Amino acid sequence: MEVIIRPTAEAAAELVARVIARELRANPHLVLGLATGRTMEGVYARLVRMAREEGLDFSLCSTFNLDEYVGLPPSDRHSYRHYMNHHLFLQVNIDLRNTHLPDGMAADLDLECRHYEELIKRFNGVDLQLLGLGRAGHIGFNEPLSALQSRTRVKALSPVTLEQNRPLFEDPERMPRRAITMGVGTILEARRCLLLATGAEKAQIIAKAVEGPITSMISATALQLHPRCTVVVDEAAATRLECADYYRWIFENEPEWDSFR
Ligand code: GLP
Repeated sequence: MEVIIRPTAEAAAELVARVIARELRANPHLVLGLATGRTMEGVYARLVRMAREEGLDFSLCSTFNLDEYVGLPPSDRHSYRHYMNHHLFLQVNIDLRNTHLPDGMAADLDLECRHYEELIKRFNGVDLQLLGLGRAGHIGFNEPLSALQSRTRVKALSPVTLEQNRPLFEDPERMPRRAITMGVGTILEARRCLLLATGAEKAQIIAKAVEGPITSMISATALQLHPRCTVVVDEAAATRLECADYYRWIFENEPEWDSFR
């Protein structure tokens, strides 16, 4: 795992967008794993800008999102399909048929989960998986006690996540209580993982995720097992990292990051 600390949330989102753009230019058939949440909005806005101003080409790219709420149709503006269409898919030249999210309206949810796993395999796996960090340390919706080898399945949302979502739903009664999510094991099979966490409210949990012991209570800690995982944070989220100076030194001296400094 490597940790990159950028001065601001904007600079952190910029770096993540540039890593994605570089991978996409190197491989136009990239299979991209995508995440939702407020943190990702800055990344998608930058990718849209690169598509418009620099001709970043999504036409051959395929995507798989981490998760989707159970019971929300794509037309619902709280659904992750709606979020993705709005923030990215309808703003770049991606073929919508190549964009995949689990179907939270499926009659047989377990079958849908198996189908999603098969589809990822048929695309030969995810090349680059973008990840955010939930307040309780989850990736996707892998809430506390998600097995580190779990596959795509239905998960009940934890009280912490429901609390985090509450301001987003005008009618709390309509707030989904379950989601389909890629499992921790599914995520770990991506060839590269890229996690973005910004803001002071993520400082404590990112320190646990990066430097704490691996535990199914905090599914992001499983990324410590991944052979190629980059974590990008801003200064506000980096305040609790014990080895921050070491991470800074690596970023300043590693040739791989020459063009990103
Ligand atoms: C939800 C999503 C996660 C996301 C998290 C953080 O729980 N399922 O994938 O990482 O929110 O969201 P935010 O970026 O809004 O803090």
